[in-house]
Amino acid sequence: MPIKKMWGGRFEKEGDELVDEFGASISFDQQMAMEDITGSLAHVKMLKATKILSASDADQIIAGLKELAQELQEHGLPFNVENEDIHMNIEALLTQKIGPVAGKLHTGRSRNDQVATDFHLYIKERLPKIIKAIKWLQSALVNLAKDNVKTIMPGYTHMQHAQPISYGHYLMAYFQMFQRDVERFEFNKKHTDLSPLGAAALAGTTFPIDRQMTADLLGFQQPYANSLDAVSDRDFALEFLSNSSILMVHLSRLCEEIIYWCSYEFGYIELSDAYSTGSSIMPQKKNPDMAELIRGKGGRVFASLIGLLTTMKGLPLAYNKDMQEDKEGVFDAVKTILPSLTVMTGMIKTVKVNKEKMAHATHHDFSNATELADYLATKGVPFRKAHEIVGELVLKGLKSGRDLADIPLAEFKQINPEIDEDVYEVLKPAVAVQRRNSFGGTGFDQVEKQIEAAEKILNNN
Ligand code: ARG
Repeated sequence: MPIKKMWGGRFEKEGDELVDEFGASISFDQQMAMEDITGSLAHVKMLKATKILSASDADQIIAGLKELAQELQEHGLPFNVENEDIHMNIEALLTQKIGPVAGKLHTGRSRNDQVATDFHLYIKERLPKIIKAIKWLQSALVNLAKDNVKTIMPGYTHMQHAQPISYGHYLMAYFQMFQRDVERFEFNKKHTDLSPLGAAALAGTTFPIDRQMTADLLGFQQPYANSLDAVSDRDFALEFLSNSSILMVHLSRLCEEIIYWCSYEFGYIELSDAYSTGSSIMPQKKNPDMAELIRGKGGRVFASLIGLLTTMKGLPLAYNKDMQEDKEGVFDAVKTILPSLTVMTGMIKTVKVNKEKMAHATHHDFSNATELADYLATKGVPFRKAHEIVGELVLKGLKSGRDLADIPLAEFKQINPEIDEDVYEVLKPAVAVQRRNSFGGTGFDQVEKQIEAAEKILNNN
């Protein structure tokens, strides 16, 4: 016998099984079961306080919902597809438990404000966890940076050696990127911290409900100001997916470099065995699978963002069933970004840095060419001219296998008589790094300052 639909009054025929299955969301929205019960508890407490429901009716409902919450925690609840979604499943279970009085719970409320409330609660609960996970990664980066302020490595542009930099400086760039992620997720809280409950289907309700009270009970800052907006808005979810996507961009860029850098050609770092895998055929292999996987997982998060943007685009106000498609991408993003952050943090914490190999890569690579051009400029040679002179020296050097530091002083003096012995000091990669002391530059003092400021940020919250 098919279950009679809660909204079945105006229908003459039973629904098709396939249609039930197709329209149902219980397979995934059961992840919001606790949020749904929490939302209902706040709603019924308000119905009691405003005397819309009698105390005895409300108390029965409250007791039933609390039992359901406990059962959910202990062993889960038996949901079914005939009851379509989490809201009607919970109500059906409540009815089984306390009888027809359960039907009074839905007074002054609709599934439209109910689902929006659940979804807000779901994201609101996860935001602090995500922020915390990003901060752990930031701490790992800062700690590694502290050990590597004076570790010299090639800085790249176009993946070509550009200028030597401090590895600590490089790591602190990622700290900054993740700090912006933190700030974006912090801001995400603002638009998530609104209660749609009591907007009802779309237009509010004739019952004298107290929306501020339910907002307070649920820990929301305030109710949505407009009932149409309350049930139609999914910006908070779009912002969440957009922030998650940008976070995945950052993680995947870091992964890309990790993957390159632990290759034989670079050899700058070695990943811990715990974060690497072997090959089933090639015994010598140690693969950076985890970094590749995080890099790869960007795709699904971006897909969820594009998916929801596309679903929401052009939707008329207010609720449309299209919006049932809003949840799975968000759930998946949560399940993707949290472990990605944790694995990345573990990878950074356990990485072995091959400082010699990094430093060695800045020798014989002409990445001190800018130093020489700058040096000439300080001796009065216009920078453009200096650039050209050094460019020619590099070309000669490349052909003859001679570094800039191998050029004898007499030869330098032919270029400009003011060039002195101190030019050789300037050409050393470590000196080049140390001297880039402009604000935010790679100079050691600047990197120390960045680390100090970062620690302050991390300790402040
Ligand atoms: N399962 C629905 C969703 O996820 C709940 C809201 C349904 N509202 C309605 N009027 N059909 O969007």
